[in-house]
Amino acid sequence: MRRQTAPYQTRQVRFVDQLSLVAAESAVSTSRHFLRLALSKWQAALIEDDVLLVASELVTNAVTVTGVLPKPPAWDELERLGLVHVRLVGLSDSVVVEVWDVSDEPPRLQRVGDDAEGGRGLLLVQELATRWGSYRTTGGKAVWAQVAVRPPLPRRSPRGERLGGAAVAPPGPDAALLRRIRAGLDTAL
Ligand SMILES: Nc1ncnc2c1ncn2[C@@H]1O[C@H](COP(=O)(O)OP(=O)(O)OP(=O)(O)O)[C@@H](O)[C@H]1O
Ligand SMILES: [Mg+2]
Repeated sequence: MRRQTAPYQTRQVRFVDQLSLVAAESAVSTSRHFLRLALSKWQAALIEDDVLLVASELVTNAVTVTGVLPKPPAWDELERLGLVHVRLVGLSDSVVVEVWDVSDEPPRLQRVGDDAEGGRGLLLVQELATRWGSYRTTGGKAVWAQVAVRPPLPRRSPRGERLGGAAVAPPGPDAALLRRIRAGLDTAL
């Protein structure tokens, strides 16, 4: 069973960055800009690709469930828009992306056939994250995914001296396949 609490304790947290967004289509690209900057600030840019993919899926789902207006909202429509919150939490060996929305309905991983058009977002999250889940919050829930940051591997110079350097766990073949499927679907739409 997926855990129903945040996947970390306060004392384990090394940094937190958070952004609140109206549930409009622009929330996905804005959250990607925000996370790119935050990861760079926290020297975690090496895992940017995976974090941004995971966040895009979670934010898209959060915006969908919150209910996005079909066109750019007029000023007097803004109060009808719900909010989603994106939070990046840094731990010693990983980062956690949390996306909060107003629905208390938990996300459900779907079994999809080869020709299904949708239902793969959380499958991608599952492949890229070491673990993921959701927990109830006041007024809704948070869906989270944890992405590993491997500690720097000792590298050696040609003369055998140790050099610094960071490495990130490469995604497995399933993640690569899911990325290609996602890219194909995006091109087709
Ligand atoms: N934040 C959420 N709140 C409530 N239900 C959710 C949330 N995220 C996902 N779900 C549920 O889980 C299902 C699976 O989500 P998933 O992202 O895998 O597929 P999808 O959003 O339906 O399609 P795709 O992501 O491929 O466009 C959704 O159809 C929805 O019913
Ligand atoms: Mg989705």
